[in-house]
Amino acid sequence: MNSKDLVYVNGSIVPRSEARVSVEDRGFVFGDGVYEVLRVINGRPFATRFHNERLRRSLEGIRISPPADDTPESFVEIGKQLLRENDLLQGEATMYMQVTRGVSTRAHNFPDAGVRPGIYISVARFTPNRELAANGAAAISHPDLRWGRCDLKTLNLLPNVLAAQTAKEKGAFEAMLIREGVVTEGSRTNFFGVVDGALRTHPCDNHILPGITRSVLRDLALEVDIDLEETPIREDEIPKLSELFLTGTTTDVMPVVSLDDKPVGKGKPGELTRKLQRVLAESLASGGD
Ligand code: PDD
Repeated sequence: MNSKDLVYVNGSIVPRSEARVSVEDRGFVFGDGVYEVLRVINGRPFATRFHNERLRRSLEGIRISPPADDTPESFVEIGKQLLRENDLLQGEATMYMQVTRGVSTRAHNFPDAGVRPGIYISVARFTPNRELAANGAAAISHPDLRWGRCDLKTLNLLPNVLAAQTAKEKGAFEAMLIREGVVTEGSRTNFFGVVDGALRTHPCDNHILPGITRSVLRDLALEVDIDLEETPIREDEIPKLSELFLTGTTTDVMPVVSLDDKPVGKGKPGELTRKLQRVLAESLASGGD
């Protein structure tokens, strides 16, 4: 936390410690809202257009319609103002944007039209985990207990939270989620693996979040002539994985070298993983968009 640590909440920029939301905010009571996390390098948010598109899609997906002036683009501008005011224009940071269905007496159905969505935007210093990126991380497999619209980035993260905590308690960095015999994604990342020489990841459907890092990496893989098959990895193929890695805004390309306490491949980051790690790092360094 830096000395200023200002955040934006419902129209005002205030110190984080003074930021307040109502106990009747539906984000608080029902987890009724959506969010985005962006990576910021030297004051420049990365892949903003993709994040804005996804936020729009998540808002539509849960039927929140903010007033015309409250667009994802306007949230990013507020985020940039926070970066300036919090002295985060140099080095790495993250930008968090959240929209809830607003404040209303508790009732499951939507409040009356006219209730303003609740908006919260904050930025924070970010330090990538270079040690894990270099040596690789451990993961566990875990049942995917989530709902049928994992493609929307909603605040309802309880199954993700529980899976992440189980991973932590087992000394692992991430939980690899398995639904009906296939690897979907991680609690907060997308998973990629190499089976019989082919790089594979789950296709974008309602069972995974369409990760921005995933899609940036898919384009970069094409540029360096690496084929990516959007075919899920089956649970019974796990022993055949020669490489495994995860992607995310705050994880980049992170090699996974052990799964459920067994080595993946040779137990160290694989060649394709290293190559993709490099191309993503270059893209991030060049500012992306
Ligand atoms: N998590 N899958 C899930 C379930 C996620 O929550 C995330 C991101 C990803 C990776 O998406 P992206 O590349 O767009 O970050 C995949 C964010 C970072 C979070 O919840 O903090």
